[in-house]
Amino acid sequence: MRILSGIQTTGNLHLGNYLGAIKQWVAMQDSVSAEGGDCLFFLADLHSLTGDVTPAERASTTIEMAATLLAAGIDDRSILFNQARVPAHSELSWILQGTARMGWLNRMTQWKDKAGKNRDGAPVGLFTYPVLQAADILLYQATHVPVGEDQKQHLELTRDVAEKFNADVGADIFTLPEPLISTAAPRIMSLRDGTAKMSKSDPSDMSRVNLIDSDDVIAQKFRKARTDAEPLPDTFAGLAERAEARNLVTIYAALADMAPQAVVERFAGQGFGAFKPALADLAISVLRPIRERLTGLLDNRDTVGAELAKGAARANALAAPTLRAAQEAVGLLV
Ligand code: TYM
Repeated sequence: MRILSGIQTTGNLHLGNYLGAIKQWVAMQDSVSAEGGDCLFFLADLHSLTGDVTPAERASTTIEMAATLLAAGIDDRSILFNQARVPAHSELSWILQGTARMGWLNRMTQWKDKAGKNRDGAPVGLFTYPVLQAADILLYQATHVPVGEDQKQHLELTRDVAEKFNADVGADIFTLPEPLISTAAPRIMSLRDGTAKMSKSDPSDMSRVNLIDSDDVIAQKFRKARTDAEPLPDTFAGLAERAEARNLVTIYAALADMAPQAVVERFAGQGFGAFKPALADLAISVLRPIRERLTGLLDNRDTVGAELAKGAARANALAAPTLRAAQEAVGLLV
């Protein structure tokens, strides 16, 4: 089993990233490494070139996000690196641009959302973004890719690219990866709008809980989170039409490792005046130790940088044979 996942270096990590991705990464590191499998986790700094990040921000964010992953529990059992230090990602991505089809990329909802109406003004990289993502995954023969639900479509595209490439060259160069979508936290939504995902690009900081937020800020954000006036029902299904309420219950369940149904049973009949403080206390108890470790690591940025370089050396070695096989399969003399 080889697990691989990545995260864009576009800013501070938030609760959606933690519950939708990082928490699973840490759990997988424990179980997969015990069974002799590999885990690769990387910072997608090349992908961040398609967004609005200044060069200085990109460099510091890469270190800060690596520090956050280390603070959350990623350690030497995993290979942690930044994409730019492994040139094979860019090299394979170009090869796969010969495989992926315009129509496939045109259907990507992330492209449609991010480019909006101004497609002519969008960076080309935003359009070909999923091809680089396919390269990230296929380069390592990853068998499983833990991601949030929003990345499912990119994973399907990765499988399509792998299948077509293998068929075109008549050889099984790439493994077809399986997505692993967490059922504990499929999609964490904004605290201000239960229909929009919690995102670092939301202009309102009140819409998300950042992993660097202090206890007081966390409490305040949950206190001010949008909800409704109804008490909690006794079934999770009863929240189907109450997006904000459902989101808070989902967050509680993911933080507590409980089923959402068990959470509504615990709070059935109670209003948000009671539920929100309980949720804030729970979030603080989970996030505080991570934040404390993170603060320590941010005082030692060089150590974090050295960890990334060490990870890149391991990743380069793993990537080399697959890049070579792909190059040879398409007749490149290298
Ligand atoms: P990114 O940086 O947007 O998000 C990183 C991971 O966090 C998950 N996530 C969420 N999960 C639940 N609720 C949310 N509100 C939420 N917001 C983010 C995402 O699903 C993701 O798993 N394209 C990827 C990065 C990437 C990648 C890869 C992932 C590049 N190459 C190869 C896997 C394999 C992305 O933009 O993630």
